Amino acid sequence: MLTRQTIDSRDYRDAMARYAGHVQIATTVNDGVRRGVTVTAACSVSDNPGTLLVCLNHSNPLNELFIQSGVFALNTLMSQHQGLADAFSGINHLDVEARFALAQWDTITTGAPTLLGAAAVFDCRLIDAKTVATHTILIGVVTGLRVGPPGPALLYLDRGYHTV
Ligand SMILES: Cc1cc2nc3c(=O)[nH]c(=O)nc-3n(C[C@H](O)[C@H](O)[C@H](O)COP(=O)(O)O)c2cc1C
Repeated sequence: MLTRQTIDSRDYRDAMARYAGHVQIATTVNDGVRRGVTVTAACSVSDNPGTLLVCLNHSNPLNELFIQSGVFALNTLMSQHQGLADAFSGINHLDVEARFALAQWDTITTGAPTLLGAAAVFDCRLIDAKTVATHTILIGVVTGLRVGPPGPALLYLDRGYHTV
């Protein structure tokens, strides 16, 4: 058991690996430039008004687009979306349009790309952003919603994908 006051980041990541996270793709668009990022650091904040948060690493300058656009969508993945999750995590180094070409997307209210066939889609207007350590917490109020078909969810646990 580790009880030190200052926790090593590797120990922290090892502990967090035991925490199952639903895999989602956060997307945005600004002046026609699209971006999507595979995330697990996202959750609900409030249901009235519908509000959620997503944490993005600000050491990646490409993530600035989420701030510049002021909009984002959170696309909740199902088991069949593991290839998409890989693509939007950058593992196979596809360019941005090749990543989006792997699936069908539309828009709801904000113009951010929304995944057809996602378990759920939350289209959001950015209402606040706070930088904490390596990440920026984006808070969005939900302006559009889509509930997809029921089916197995794509989770990330113990450094691998699982379905539930
Ligand atoms: C399962 C999984 C979960 C991730 N969760 C997050 C996250 O919550 N926030 C984040 O900023 N990056 C997260 N990442 C890393 C980003 O997906 C990755 O750094 C980014 O897509 C790289 O984009 P680029 O190739 O366009 O630079 C996660 C990656 C994986 C595989």
